[in-house]
Amino acid sequence: MRIRDATMADVPAILGIYNDVVTNTTAIYDQHPSTLEERQDWFETRSRRFPVLVGELNGAVVGFSTFGEWRSRWGYRFTVEHSVHVRADCRGKGLGRQLIEVLFPRAAAMNVHMMIAHIDSAASASLRLHEKLGFERVGTFREVGLMKEDWLSVVAMQKAIHQPTASPSLR
Ligand SMILES: CC(C)(COP(=O)(O)OP(=O)(O)OC[C@H]1O[C@@H](n2cnc3c(N)ncnc32)[C@H](O)[C@@H]1OP(=O)(O)O)[C@@H](O)C(=O)NCCC(=O)NCCS
Repeated sequence: MRIRDATMADVPAILGIYNDVVTNTTAIYDQHPSTLEERQDWFETRSRRFPVLVGELNGAVVGFSTFGEWRSRWGYRFTVEHSVHVRADCRGKGLGRQLIEVLFPRAAAMNVHMMIAHIDSAASASLRLHEKLGFERVGTFREVGLMKEDWLSVVAMQKAIHQPTASPSLR
C-alpha cells in the first residue's frame, strides 16, 4: 500500500469508505451518510491544519487516516484525536495498522504530545489494533451513544507521542 497526503480528488473515495462505516457499523455515531459537499467542506477545513492521509492499492483508495483537534480550548493544543477507516473488502490485512503508524511521525513533527482515540466498545478489531500500537485504555464512557435501539459505550485510549516532560518552549 502506498500512503500519501489526500487531495480534494480523493474525497469521493473517502466518502464511500466513510458512508459504508456509517451504514454498516457502529464505529461512527452519525444518523445519516454524509453528502459529498459535507465531506469536501470537512476536508478543506481539516487539511488546512492537519494531515489527511490515504492508502492506495492498485490506484484505488482503500483507507484513510487523519487527526484533528481533540478539544478546541487553547490548553488542549498539543493533544489530537485521530480516526482511521479501511475499505470493507481490505480489512484484516495490516492496512489499518500502517495507516495509524504513519500518523505518529506526522504528530511528532507537529509537537503533538498526546494522541486520543475514542472507540466504540463493540469495535473489537479497532480496540485490539490500538492496544497493539501502544494505546492505553483510559476507561469506558458507558451508554453515551444511542443508535437504533441500543445504548453504545465508548472506550477512551491514549498514547504519548512526546514524553510528559515536554520542552518548556511548548508550554
Ligand atoms: C478498525 C480498522 C481501521 C482496522 O484496520 P484493518 O486493516 O482491518 O486492521 P489490521 O489488519 O491492520 O489489523 C491490525 C490488528 O488489529 C487486530 N484485528 C484486525 N481485525 C480484527 C478482527 N476482525 N477482530 C479482532 N482483531 C482484529 C489484529 O490484532 C491485527 O493485528 P494482527 O493481525 O497482527 O493480530 C478497520 O477494520 C475498519 O475500518 N473497521 C471499520 C471502521 C472502524 O472500526 N474504524 C475505526 C474507528 S476507531
